[in-house]
Amino acid sequence: MAPKPLPEAICRESYDAALYAGTVSGGARELGLPRQTVEYRYREGVRRFGWKDVLAEDGATTPHQPRFTPPDLADNLEDIEAWLDRRETEFARKKAASSAREWMEFTITETAPFGLVFVGDPHGDDDGCDISLLRRHVALIEQTQGLFAIGMGDWVNAWAGRLERLYGEQTTTKAQGWRFAEWLLGKEFWLLMLLGNHDLWLGAGSPLRWMSRGHAVMADWQARFQVRCGDQVWRIWAAHDFPGSSVWNRLHAPGKRAALTGHDADLLIAAHRHCFGLAEQQDEHTGKVSWLARAKGYKVSDAYAANLGYGQAQDRGHSIVAVCDPFTGRMTCFSDVEEAARYLTWLRRPRVRVPAVAA
Ligand SMILES: [Fe+2]
Ligand SMILES: [Fe+2]
Repeated sequence: MAPKPLPEAICRESYDAALYAGTVSGGARELGLPRQTVEYRYREGVRRFGWKDVLAEDGATTPHQPRFTPPDLADNLEDIEAWLDRRETEFARKKAASSAREWMEFTITETAPFGLVFVGDPHGDDDGCDISLLRRHVALIEQTQGLFAIGMGDWVNAWAGRLERLYGEQTTTKAQGWRFAEWLLGKEFWLLMLLGNHDLWLGAGSPLRWMSRGHAVMADWQARFQVRCGDQVWRIWAAHDFPGSSVWNRLHAPGKRAALTGHDADLLIAAHRHCFGLAEQQDEHTGKVSWLARAKGYKVSDAYAANLGYGQAQDRGHSIVAVCDPFTGRMTCFSDVEEAARYLTWLRRPRVRVPAVAA
């Protein structure tokens, strides 16, 4: 009759003892068993259970390392419960900040016609920026009663990374560019300022973020807002650009956004591509009127665009102006700031309202 195989626990006891002592003999002494018994059980463990054979040819294992007590070290990571609590608070704060900016409302305190000038990309430190036109428009906004401004972004070139070499191709230095930005952003007519791709290259530490503090709302890339005056409210979606493009239609991107969001805004306006377009449309099913626009900006001479074959003959639409009348609820958009300023001034003229006399 074949002998009964040894249980695994018996083999494990001898295997561990040999391993701990460093030799089979040492293990046998630890257990108080004959050397041959311990070696047999060790070999059985290796053969039947696939344990690693660590015995050297002379029957010795690697020498056993002495035991030690590790130091009691403080954890350099935050306690998990404290981390979870902190993240919860941070997320709640970010969510509240984001919600507050959804269709944020500006209120014009005087009930009278007013205009919103959507100032296209200035690129003020670029040699191709039409500075005299920009200065004329800035002066017009300052001097015309009822005009406010929304900056569409790309205030300065702010070349960053590999593009920093382009400072060598313009006559205005980086420092002078910031001086220009300080001059423009310091105007009191700003309601809202967007940051375009050039501005966002500067990240969270952008000087523009500090220049805007205290007198205007600043938003990365886009903002959805409404302007209230008297009993009327106009909804506006302004973005440095919307997704999508078409060589046939400069207003494709804002038009697509309007169609996909149920014409939820009275005006959808973009900039960024340095070309202009403006259109009024009315949905044939709902009757909802909305304007689509793209402001050209002031970088009217662009070597990069010329190299790509884009035309540069547009001489209007550098900024787009939306004139709003709280007495009729109408919004009328213009591609010419001077024309819009004249219309607004005419609309705001003192009027004597004579009640109709019954016949
Ligand atoms: Fe841009
Ligand atoms: Fe731009």
